[in-house]
Amino acid sequence: MKISRRKMLSQSVYLTIGSLFLPFSTSIASGKGKHLSKGLDLIHKVLSRPLDVGLSHIDKCLSLNKIDIQNHDGFKDYINSLVTVFFGHHHGEDEILFPTFEDKIKNSDLSKLKKQHKELHPLTEQIKNRINVKNPTLGEYREIRSLLKETKNLWVKHRNEEEETVELNLEPTLSSKEQLELNEKLSKHGQSISEPATLILPFLIYNLEGNDRHEFTSDMPWILKNFIVPTIWKSKWEKMKPFLLA
Ligand SMILES: [Fe+2]
Ligand SMILES: [Fe+2]
Repeated sequence: MKISRRKMLSQSVYLTIGSLFLPFSTSIASGKGKHLSKGLDLIHKVLSRPLDVGLSHIDKCLSLNKIDIQNHDGFKDYINSLVTVFFGHHHGEDEILFPTFEDKIKNSDLSKLKKQHKELHPLTEQIKNRINVKNPTLGEYREIRSLLKETKNLWVKHRNEEEETVELNLEPTLSSKEQLELNEKLSKHGQSISEPATLILPFLIYNLEGNDRHEFTSDMPWILKNFIVPTIWKSKWEKMKPFLLA
């Protein structure tokens, strides 16, 4: 009995995480309105905030001429989670969202958006390599700062262009049913890149606040968002707390 409950819970966790990598959630997509662009806006906010948080944390360390060693592990977890979600979100777009777009709109040209993904990935990969050291130096933090800055510049351009393309071109061509089907495909995809859930899930939830968080987590089981993540998993993610809106 215990095993089957655990299995059910872990399945629900992974389905939830998968759905959070989507540009829209099931409940949003089944209604009327700009479902796709609203969902895209939310996951893009999750990806945008940590770039600013990372930059300001490093700026603080540089101005004090001292690494905040006490929070380095939490910063590491936070930046690693950002890179995981970045890769996961873009992979889902490359493999599922963009092909749907191309299938739906003949002669559509997504080459610019795809190229931007390709430019962003090596940068985030380098950030990950530089952050994952035990004893960081100020020199390394300076390098990470410049990579974060470069990533942010490219990301802001990409985010704005992608949101405009989706809202103006793709969204009007998709019915609610098509959005739901797309949602399911992306959910399954998201499950494979959401490890460790104990860090990724709080990272996704606590980089949003207010209505955005409420909307983003509306499909999550109550017990997961109100008990498991904030209480049971807290010891796993609390090192990231200084960087989150928890
Ligand atoms: Fe995106
Ligand atoms: Fe993208």
